[in-house]
Amino acid sequence: MRELCVVILLVLLGDFAAAADAVPLSALDLSQMSSGWSVPKANANIMGKALSIRDKKFAMGIGTHASSRLRLQLGQNALRFRSVIGIDDSAGGQGSVQFRVFADRQLVFHSGTVTGKSPAQRIDLDIAGVDLLELVVDDNGDGSANDHADWADAKLTLRDDKRLPQALAPFETIDLKTASFHLRFVVGDDRRLYQAPICAAEEQLPPSRNQVAYPQGGDGYVWEPALQVVHADGDRSTSLRFVDVERTGLEDEREQVRIRLQDDVYPLQVDLYFRLDPARDVIEEWRHIHNQGEGKIALERMASTSWLFDAPDLHLLHFHGDWADEMNPIAEKLTPGVKSIASLLGTRATQFVAPSFVLSLDGPPQEQQGRVIAGSLAWSGNFQAAFEHNGSQVRALCGVHPFGSTYYLDAGEGFQTPTMIWVSSNRGLGEMSRKFHRWARKHGIRDGDKPRDTLLNNWEATGFDFDQQRIEGLLPPAAEVGFELFLLDDGWFGDKYPRVNDRAGLGDWRPNPKRFPDGMEPIAQSAIEQGMRFGIWIEPEMVNPQSVLYEQHPDWVIRQPHRDLDYQRTQLVLDLTRPEVQQFERSAIQETLKTRGVSCVKWDANRYVTQPGSAYLPSNQQTHLWIDYTNNLYQLMQQTAREFPQTELMLCAGGGGRVDYGALRYFHEFWPSDNTDAVRRVALQWDYSYFFPAISICSHTSEMGNHPLHFATAVSMSARLGMDIDLAELSAEEIATCRSAIAAYKKFRDVIHLGDLHRIESPHDGARSVVNFVSPEKERAILFAYQLKSGARRVVKPQGLDPQKSYRLFERHPQSGRPPVAAEGQSMRGHEWMEQGVRLSTSAAIQATILEFTANEAT
Ligand code: DGJ
Repeated sequence: MRELCVVILLVLLGDFAAAADAVPLSALDLSQMSSGWSVPKANANIMGKALSIRDKKFAMGIGTHASSRLRLQLGQNALRFRSVIGIDDSAGGQGSVQFRVFADRQLVFHSGTVTGKSPAQRIDLDIAGVDLLELVVDDNGDGSANDHADWADAKLTLRDDKRLPQALAPFETIDLKTASFHLRFVVGDDRRLYQAPICAAEEQLPPSRNQVAYPQGGDGYVWEPALQVVHADGDRSTSLRFVDVERTGLEDEREQVRIRLQDDVYPLQVDLYFRLDPARDVIEEWRHIHNQGEGKIALERMASTSWLFDAPDLHLLHFHGDWADEMNPIAEKLTPGVKSIASLLGTRATQFVAPSFVLSLDGPPQEQQGRVIAGSLAWSGNFQAAFEHNGSQVRALCGVHPFGSTYYLDAGEGFQTPTMIWVSSNRGLGEMSRKFHRWARKHGIRDGDKPRDTLLNNWEATGFDFDQQRIEGLLPPAAEVGFELFLLDDGWFGDKYPRVNDRAGLGDWRPNPKRFPDGMEPIAQSAIEQGMRFGIWIEPEMVNPQSVLYEQHPDWVIRQPHRDLDYQRTQLVLDLTRPEVQQFERSAIQETLKTRGVSCVKWDANRYVTQPGSAYLPSNQQTHLWIDYTNNLYQLMQQTAREFPQTELMLCAGGGGRVDYGALRYFHEFWPSDNTDAVRRVALQWDYSYFFPAISICSHTSEMGNHPLHFATAVSMSARLGMDIDLAELSAEEIATCRSAIAAYKKFRDVIHLGDLHRIESPHDGARSVVNFVSPEKERAILFAYQLKSGARRVVKPQGLDPQKSYRLFERHPQSGRPPVAAEGQSMRGHEWMEQGVRLSTSAAIQATILEFTANEAT
């Protein structure tokens, strides 16, 4: 065994002259010292009798019992530590222990096995300059019966007798605290880092092996590891030991904590990073794994997080779906075994499963009560969140999906895992989401403090069937009803292979000269002249085989070379691991975005990866594809955000195929689904809102589902309002509805985009769904009631108002021909509105009501 052990002086018991100025250890505060049985005794053995080792009596010292620890903060004031150690005669010759002394976490004395028959050992250690002294006795691995351990004649020689050492808690702990959450790590006697399980009824010290933090495979941990390394010599074991912790203050009253771990044999360093946002109850977490050796190592598993829970009634709320049917919630109790929510799709990783979930600690999740923790992995590639229930505790292992993703690190190279975002609430899902939204607006999305413009998109109105003239025709009515932004979707590019359907043109990012003979600038300027901004669609990661790009570079796509090409939407994914592809995509984006007048971009991705092979990566690094693709994509997104800071970016992947905070940090909003049916959208927006704020959720009114326009617009108004509609096809009454919706929205969108969301009646439970938003100062609240089926006329009760403030009620964007709510114009205190509620003027299916509560008599 390799130990950092330095035995300064070790001789058999003989002459031992106590220093005149030494302070007996027994004179210090021993209340912090731990003992495996009873409590440590000053100047007596653990039985309370005279200290005695091999028949020699000691007047001074400490009697304790394995396992025992004393940690002393010396403040660099001590010079020597002396003691005589052994098993007390009260054990009757039985017992076996090991004594260890650590100076500033370095082992400086190790007794080896000491039995009830071993002679006493004398220690005399030079501890000048040491800050932390730890005296540890463990049970020698054979149980602690009769382990009466004595630190006899234990004394510290101090520089300054008046500055006594300070006793610390027996185990070093690292506490990560936010307003309602406390995560504790404990450094064990073996120097491994342990995690106190979340919700554990009582703290188990010393911690059990199962509690090891960020568990590593191959050295005694028998469950799913968070880290599996193959070292340069083929050894598959890792055993990380605590080195130190560093805490750094950050702007916005956040703090970054780095816990450094080091393998005790191999040159491998792992840093556990945490970024705490105490006020918002958010912890971000990631790992940095560093190969400090000379040879190549392989990472087979490298989770971002591995929190341990000891909650008997732990429930998981997770989300599944498909194209146009994203984010279907399902809550279930976790039971023994491994529950895995995962994706192996690459470019559209969230098409079937979301990397966001909620752990409910007290049974099924509830909106207003119970402890819940939301988890969201900021990663747009393959991911896995595995919840391993070992019969009593659950470990949540989340990170890149390890399948087919072995990552090799050459000498000196490092690997940073994606960030995991955790948000905690002691008052249910509602409070959890409000905290998540506040964090996201500040740190998760771009410009989260700036309300978004209303937008008209042509896609569902025109599909691919347009040219400059047709688009020009859409602009005046768009400006007339009040839109502030026009977004031109797919179909504006391609020459030799024009993009007039989804079978050609992707990759050829030049305006289609037949459709836009003078390029895109004239149409952009036209929109601007009519008072709107102009946005454009791109899909830079993809190529159609019918394209000049593919003709020239057939090897630039992700594919398996000996297999028939597998198409989705007649397209292929470009291989972003290849530098030329990175450069090509960057130029395509730059060319498009620098078109004068373009100030918004919808970044789409309409297929996922099914044949994960790269002609660029060497054969022994094919498993880097998934991870390198995603990291290179982020680089592209980051460059775009930096080069075009004023350009609004909408994240889209054939609907909600890429909805995660990894990409969103470069974007302003996301396109949640190609399903714009307003009834489906009520539930979809409700479910996205667990993790994402309304300002980031694009909601476009369309004809899908053929619902009344008033209802459809009201649904869009509770998120980022847009429309995908041909205004020319609408009746005068419908145009008036659109105009009314946009006008009303402009007046209150700051409340929707920047306020707090309260989910009041779930679309999954009944005939009606109700949400309201409250402005940060609680001056205004906007309530949306969506009657999904005809039902009883129950009152709706707003939430989150200031109980003492007076609010006047107004119905906004009223439905023509329907009487306003009876309480229109009435004023009551917040608590009265919240207790008594408002009776709506309709209970008919597919009708919506929008109410505004305005404080201080302002209208
Ligand atoms: C998929 C997106 O989700 C749609 O909104 C639209 O942009 C099409 N792609 C265009 O191809």
